[in-house]
Amino acid sequence: MPRTLLIAGNWKMNKTATEAVELIKAIVPAIGKQTDINVVVAPPFTALQSVGENLVNSTVNLGAQNVSEKPHGAYTGEVSTAMLRDLHVTHVIIGHSERRSYYGETDAIVNKKTLAALENTLKPIVCVGETLAERESAKTFEVIGQQITVGLANIPANQFANVIVAYEPVWAIGTGKTATPAMAQEVHAFIRAQLAKLQGEAAAQKTRILYGGSMKPDNADALLAEADIDGGLIGGAALVAKDFIALVESGKKASARK
Ligand code: 13P
Repeated sequence: MPRTLLIAGNWKMNKTATEAVELIKAIVPAIGKQTDINVVVAPPFTALQSVGENLVNSTVNLGAQNVSEKPHGAYTGEVSTAMLRDLHVTHVIIGHSERRSYYGETDAIVNKKTLAALENTLKPIVCVGETLAERESAKTFEVIGQQITVGLANIPANQFANVIVAYEPVWAIGTGKTATPAMAQEVHAFIRAQLAKLQGEAAAQKTRILYGGSMKPDNADALLAEADIDGGLIGGAALVAKDFIALVESGKKASARK
């Protein structure tokens, strides 16, 4: 069974609820009925409800950008898995490099959040990736090996099918610098080998591994053609309706060839 490609838009801290509705209304008519690939949009928490209302009767899924590892209680400012489920959120981005570097999220926290998400049937999109300094000192595989081994530890075998990994080289995020398809493929193949060590080859073969980092309509086809690149996690280009629509079209084309 080929893996179903996934194109996900991470809107980061952009768009008020009102602006988010404008954006989703520009996207859904073009791609809201396609079933060739999976599509997720992840607006800020404050726009989940209004964007979600515009996804009813579409095939586009709703994602969040973060979640608490705690189920409920006195955790000011946090949002729980149950709160997300109640808004019909199906996916959640966990351990984005911006959360790791600005908010101190460690692999251990990423692991707790991933287990909490799976427990409440949210599909975690777990982000990994090396910084420029790590790449230049030949630490890419060591860093990503650790992020995968610790971040995805102790996942029950029957929940692993819901895990999605995103490889986002930190030096490529928002910089306009993209990993070449060959560079990305090399890391994706490494990630799949790490997943096989954790959960066995069959489970690793079923897991989607997305690429993220300056993915745009003009570089997506080449990236998505690689054997172990199963979709994209898109920042900047996901905020421009025509670009996001083009990226979904690239995903559909790639899916037909895989
Ligand atoms: P850009 O596409 O803006 O580089 O962002 C990638 C990203 O961080 C998606 O999560």
